[in-house]
Amino acid sequence: MDQQVDQLQAAAAAALAQAPDLAALAEWKAQYLGDKGALTGLLRSIGQLPKEERPAAGQTINAAKRALEARLAEKTEQLRAASLENALDAERLDVTLPGRPRAVGHLHLITQTMRDIVDTFVQMGFAVVEGPDIELDLYNFELLNIPPEHPARSLHDTLYINEQLVLRTHTSPNQIRVMQRQPPPIRVVVPGKCYRAEATDATHEAYFHQVEGLAVDKHVTLADLKGTLAALARALFGSERTVRFRCDYFPYVEPGVDLAIDCLVCGGKGCRACKFTGYLEIMGAGMVHPQVLRNGGIDPDQYSGFAFGMGPERIAMLRYGIEDMRLYYTNDLRLLRQF
Ligand code: FA5
Repeated sequence: MDQQVDQLQAAAAAALAQAPDLAALAEWKAQYLGDKGALTGLLRSIGQLPKEERPAAGQTINAAKRALEARLAEKTEQLRAASLENALDAERLDVTLPGRPRAVGHLHLITQTMRDIVDTFVQMGFAVVEGPDIELDLYNFELLNIPPEHPARSLHDTLYINEQLVLRTHTSPNQIRVMQRQPPPIRVVVPGKCYRAEATDATHEAYFHQVEGLAVDKHVTLADLKGTLAALARALFGSERTVRFRCDYFPYVEPGVDLAIDCLVCGGKGCRACKFTGYLEIMGAGMVHPQVLRNGGIDPDQYSGFAFGMGPERIAMLRYGIEDMRLYYTNDLRLLRQF
């Protein structure tokens, strides 16, 4: 029996020395010390020995078991330390590596365009003011010479909140608000959101923006309006683009004009974006109607003024060759990341 135990102990010790990792140790333990292990097998076989030999054999086997358990504990400790060492090596932090940059967002293309427009007017001496999105019918229409039943109302597909309140269909109500607040000379721009119950298409959204402008002083003429808007067009589009002024009708200006720029999407040949005209209208404008000056508390015999209202969505289409403004508000990062 002693010899058998010695052989087993030597074989176990050799196998233990070879075990490469903690998983191999678990296997080794099952093979030699476990319930069905070799040493336990020897202990069970003691019963077959003569009675007088049994105590000594038991002691020998138990001594071998304790010795192997002690070695196992030692090897486990060694392997744990080695695996910790490896993990520390593998996960070492190189503090000299450059950091990973965080992805930060940026201003929406239309916000950028509005700021470009407003900055251009600020350089020309205009102040920036704001007005309410929810507007009185009185300001949105009536004081702008558009009484109830006036046919011009049908040009604006108005979203009514109740009989007196609307979601403003344009930024023009601010012409009256500004005139009522301050005496001439007036030079302001009013950027803001507008809402219309539109059937949307490539150049019409139900939610869009306008930048309104108003200048009132003595001797302001249509030439001032034309000069100011031509300067804006040059600043936004460069001097090589064509600007087209045409007569247009708005009840709150006389005369009224609209301003269009040659279409960048098709180079003026005609496409969906310009409705095959080669030009895209970006604003309405004109000389402030004498009655509107009066409604704002200003004497039209002493003062005159011009006003305009432009659409940044259309201006961005023309600057960057975007063929459908509905793309702006679908949150498609493939478009938004380009600007
Ligand atoms: C007006 O809203 C007038 N209040 C402009 C004005 C101001 C005229 C002062 C005279 C004096 P209009 O509906 O044409 O006009 O709109 C002006 C501009 O807003 C358009 O040229 C276009 O650029 C933009 N716009 C109008 N409707 C939409 C829409 N549904 N979606 C996107 N942009 C629009």
